[in-house]
Amino acid sequence: MKNIYTLVCILIFALVACEKEQKPTNELEAKVSNLLSKMTLDEKIGQLNLRGTSSRVKGKLSDSLKQAVRDGKIGAFLNVNNTEYVDELQRIAVEESPNNIPLIFARDVIHGYKTIFPIPLGMAASWDAKVAENSSRVAAVEGASFGIRWTFAPMLDIARDSRWGRIAESPGEDPFLAANLSKAYVKGFQGDSLNDPTSMIACAKHFIGYGAAIGGRDYNTAVISDAQLHNIYLPPFKSAVDAGSQTFMTAFNEMNGIPASGDRRLLTNILREGFGFDGFVVSDWESTEEMIPHGFATDLKHAAEISLNAGLNMEMTSKAFEIHTKELLEEGKITEDQINSLVADILRVKLRMGLFEKPYRVDKSDNLYADAHLQMAKEAAIKSSVLLKNENNILPLNNKTNIAVIGPLADKPREQLGTWSFDGDGKFTKTPINAFQSSTVNYNFVEGLAYSRDKSTKDFSKAIAAAKQSDVILFIGGEEAILSGEAHSRSNINLPGAQEQLIKELAKTGKPIVLVIMAGRPITVGNIIDDVAAILMTWHPGTMGGPAIHDMVFGIAEPSGRLPVTWPKVAGQLPLFYNHKNTGRPVIPEEFVQMDSIPIGAWQSSLGNTSHYLDIGYLPQYPFGYGLGYTTFEYSDLVLSSDTLSKNEELTVKVTVKNTGKREGSDVAQLYVQDVVGRITRPVRELKGYKSVTLKPNETKEITFTLSLDDLKYYDNQSVYGVEKGTFNVWVGQHSATGKMAKFSYE
Ligand code: BGC
Repeated sequence: MKNIYTLVCILIFALVACEKEQKPTNELEAKVSNLLSKMTLDEKIGQLNLRGTSSRVKGKLSDSLKQAVRDGKIGAFLNVNNTEYVDELQRIAVEESPNNIPLIFARDVIHGYKTIFPIPLGMAASWDAKVAENSSRVAAVEGASFGIRWTFAPMLDIARDSRWGRIAESPGEDPFLAANLSKAYVKGFQGDSLNDPTSMIACAKHFIGYGAAIGGRDYNTAVISDAQLHNIYLPPFKSAVDAGSQTFMTAFNEMNGIPASGDRRLLTNILREGFGFDGFVVSDWESTEEMIPHGFATDLKHAAEISLNAGLNMEMTSKAFEIHTKELLEEGKITEDQINSLVADILRVKLRMGLFEKPYRVDKSDNLYADAHLQMAKEAAIKSSVLLKNENNILPLNNKTNIAVIGPLADKPREQLGTWSFDGDGKFTKTPINAFQSSTVNYNFVEGLAYSRDKSTKDFSKAIAAAKQSDVILFIGGEEAILSGEAHSRSNINLPGAQEQLIKELAKTGKPIVLVIMAGRPITVGNIIDDVAAILMTWHPGTMGGPAIHDMVFGIAEPSGRLPVTWPKVAGQLPLFYNHKNTGRPVIPEEFVQMDSIPIGAWQSSLGNTSHYLDIGYLPQYPFGYGLGYTTFEYSDLVLSSDTLSKNEELTVKVTVKNTGKREGSDVAQLYVQDVVGRITRPVRELKGYKSVTLKPNETKEITFTLSLDDLKYYDNQSVYGVEKGTFNVWVGQHSATGKMAKFSYE
């Protein structure tokens, strides 16, 4: 009896809870339908248009643009970076357009609005969701005060090729790490409530495969198998939907012959039907029209037909929808129901944002560059910096050390902000030189090269003279901001200009060199690695890069980033990623014969060689997950709760970590799994968990991970999701090429 009573109570509770959950959704959908029923076809088509404000006349908004808003012919704007225009356009939309539908204002607020955080690849190196969330929250608070309530971020393209300029914007090469960051970014941008005036709706982009551009050449074709699509490229996007991202952006590229902006399987079957996404999808800049040069649409009208039928809601800047939707409807190539559904997705988001009640921006510009924002940006720069080399523990330096600061990026406020930092003001940026100026350290600054691509040796002698007077050379170089980002792929990713040459000259002084790199991608350092004692990768560290570098160099803070991408020795190894397949001839290190060791006139044979390059071998410069700190750690006692895993059970994986160095420090304990035999071949390792641990000298801590069957499941070529019985290897350690190992089986 008691049990029945409990059951009834649970049922009633569930019904009430369900009712509560259903109500707002139903109310929302009723509002959407009500609005739709009042809109003319022209207004509906208007909602599908995302426009810029290029039609300005003498610093004013043109009458024709204002009229278009008044007529309800524009749904959203991008890059209206003028608050007067934002206010005026919104006023016209909500007061004078037929159904008073508010506009949304969008912009690329990628890694900060005014306070610029490290580039996203750097943020990924923090392996810290809170750091990522803070960065996007700060960006939203600052940007929303200018009326920007929609950001074109996060960029979630898995990138395995450092030649690609947009790797700078990506979360790196790993789907597990990227999926965690994706959630954090969306949460930060959108805040606790979409209708809060500081909430910016997120846009998961670029859907999909943009990072798989062949050869790392921007916009290039992507060829992605179904298994790769589901196992590698989709997880961060699925995670964005689960976190509530209100919008998606299609990619410029084609995948397997179909440009993303015209791919119905992607936009409708996978995104809406599969992931349950109910927001709206915007094209990338003219990517609908670009289906013509892709060779997929015959003309603009055909492009509109393909994109509308694929399920694309909004067109960025090109006008295929605006010009041709009506005609397509008349010809029966699309239906009014389809248009209604595409418009409903946009209205739903506008309603959720509370724009109908509160359409106007709330000015919180006193928040710009707020102290708390700057502190978070500094923390992010420290947490994303990766210490790659530290011979004889040269870092941290003693603050009495006599330092020669040399290099083209030591004092370049604009360059250290990196790509997509339109609004970050160089005046507020703190360079390393600014930070050194406001500290008591002993330094002498000679640039040596005026910019990162500078090939002139005219100032070398001054730099060498300064080096000779010093105890240590701090060389701050890398890439200017313009060398990475959209359409800025490079085929050679060494330090550009005469930087290597200058480093070699400086090395001749016999003074140790600490190389600090600011760049949008891993930089191949093979030519100079033996000339420098330490390498600290800071990516493009943002507004507070200087103070962060100062604190790390002098040991006030510890660089705690870990590589989110495999760091190649030479560009010729690319694409290079840790979660590759084994091949039938995996590397046998002892049998590797380097090119120079092959006897002259040797008979054609494999020489026992396996899958590698004769000249450079098979190893990267630094593996995925790698990063040093100012102390050392030891991993021991990897213990599994069982050597078998059964359905509905969890396996506990424990490991003991000890700080074996002399100062407190942090490490990222990483758990990798290998499914030894699968129904399709499986990667040699896959990241399935990570935890940050901070320990005092000699302190030990047991870290616990759990694994369930869901962590082992994967998609095969028929898109079947599951896992078969068999043996699994598991490692826990400091990066993807090391770790304590154990085995278990799924039975
Ligand atoms: C980029 C997008 C960006 C858009 C709007 C395009 O060129 O690919 O990532 O959001 O421009 O600026």
